[in-house]
Amino acid sequence: MLPVLLLLLPALGPALAWIPVQDWESGNVTASVGSSGQCVCHVFLPDTTFPANRVEHMQEVSKNLLLEVEIQKKKIVSYEGKLVIYLQELKDLSIRVSIMQTSGEDYIKLDFELLRIELREFEALVSQLKDSLNSSSPLFDSLYTEIRNMTHIVNQLESYDKSNLEVIRVEFAKLQKKLEECQAEQEVIKPDIGNCNHTGILSIGKPLVIQVNAHLSPSYQYGGWGKDSKPVRGYENMYFYGAYSSPSAVYDFYVYSNYDDLILRKALKHHDIPSGWEGAGNNYIVHSNTIYYQHNSPFSMTKLNLTSSKYDYRVISAASQRFSYAYSDYQNLDFAADENGLWVMYASEESKGKIVLAKIDEKSFGIEDQWNTAVFKQSAGNAFMVCGVMYATRSIDVSTEEIFYAFDTKTKQEKNLNIRFQKFQEKYSNLDYNPSDQKLYMYNNGYYVSYNVRFNKE
Ligand SMILES: *[C@@H]1O[C@H](CO)[C@@H](O)[C@H](O)[C@H]1NC(C)=O
Ligand SMILES: *[C@@H]1O[C@H](CO)[C@@H](O)[C@H](O)[C@H]1NC(C)=O
Ligand SMILES: *[C@@H]1O[C@H](CO)[C@@H](O)[C@H](O)[C@H]1NC(C)=O
Ligand SMILES: *[C@@H]1O[C@H](CO)[C@@H](O)[C@H](O)[C@H]1NC(C)=O
Ligand SMILES: *[C@@H]1O[C@H](CO)[C@@H](O)[C@H](O)[C@H]1NC(C)=O
Repeated sequence: MLPVLLLLLPALGPALAWIPVQDWESGNVTASVGSSGQCVCHVFLPDTTFPANRVEHMQEVSKNLLLEVEIQKKKIVSYEGKLVIYLQELKDLSIRVSIMQTSGEDYIKLDFELLRIELREFEALVSQLKDSLNSSSPLFDSLYTEIRNMTHIVNQLESYDKSNLEVIRVEFAKLQKKLEECQAEQEVIKPDIGNCNHTGILSIGKPLVIQVNAHLSPSYQYGGWGKDSKPVRGYENMYFYGAYSSPSAVYDFYVYSNYDDLILRKALKHHDIPSGWEGAGNNYIVHSNTIYYQHNSPFSMTKLNLTSSKYDYRVISAASQRFSYAYSDYQNLDFAADENGLWVMYASEESKGKIVLAKIDEKSFGIEDQWNTAVFKQSAGNAFMVCGVMYATRSIDVSTEEIFYAFDTKTKQEKNLNIRFQKFQEKYSNLDYNPSDQKLYMYNNGYYVSYNVRFNKE
């Protein structure tokens, strides 16, 4: 017999008419949904002085949150659609003779796990929204109920006759293919891996928001993620991640065998940094299966060789702990890797807080050369290296970042640029280019984000 599965679709429209009460100490805010689904806010101000600056701030916060909700909404809507299709196909299939599949069950498990993760991610997002708005609106409760209902449906589907679930595997494969096609579309020019036969960055693609961090914790705002920039044999698809709720401490790192495991939060290894080797600042990278990060006592550049599990450090005597990037503290040593090798960027008293760019000799773990740039470290969002050129970024507004400066180590020439790109969230703690896939990786306030980079081939 075919079990009766009820699909209760989330009423997302009304659920998203959340009430931004956080920015109003007094007064009175109500929200409702207009005839075409738009959010209508009624604000009663008890005061005669109009707090224009706070309204502006609130608008910025709202815009940011709305973007976030939009992304999640799209995902959820697409899953709703999928579930409807799956249910229909399950019904169609149930009248056929069931043939037990001997293979493919692992894939099915993986698919369900992905769906569950998406739901958990959405739940984490709703919690984040709720916390940041300090709202106890019943609308949030109904959102939670809807998520639980969808999770229940996923569980029901999973326990249903496994032979029919092959359909779901096929659907997921299609969806995955679509996602890949979407990414490929962004890449107007095929990456020419390892080739520096170009005159620099032309543009940065749209942000690809992968998901919230592996701790599923929006409060883990300070961290980094990415790929090994020069993988050793057997670890070509390895990803890394690490984060914490404060920029002052780096306690651990997670490595993942491949992209799927990163998405599933199935770490290959968890490296718990022993006492005395803890880091800070979150501007680390992984290069040749070795993590390069900032260590605070003594203040030095440190590496953890994941192959040998050995630690080593070098003090850069000129480097100062006084200068961080604009978005968070403790970012004194910023590591980078490009087609030419390893780099570290710092600021010193001698440089008067401007970024000094240094080339690291991988073998001796020493500085082999260095250059002074004109960028005040504290005014930059972050910096990264591509083909021996340092690029520095700065904030334009809450959702726009700009590459505003480039320094070429080959010609010692500097350039002002205005290459703008979108951010998902205002602040980020780690931005690095990876020469192995020519993408930018950003840890954007708790979210994994990546970008395609286009080069000027003139
Ligand atoms: C909110 O507005 C209503 C109607 O204007 C009023 O009765 C109520 O006291 C207000 N509440 C607060 C907390 O200001
Ligand atoms: C949130 O609201 C509660 C009660 O309305 C209040 O006690 C608390 O201080 C608020 N928290 C923040 C961070 O505004
Ligand atoms: C969730 O499911 C429960 C029972 O399964 C039902 O009573 C409730 O109305 C559902 N809620 C939504 C929002 O679909
Ligand atoms: C570099 O690019 C230019 C123009 O696209 C081309 O003419 C030249 O042959 C290329 N050189 C190398 C070494 O690939
Ligand atoms: C890491 O350790 C391995 C094994 O001892 C060694 O072969 C490799 O050169 C080391 N890499 C770095 C970057 O220190």
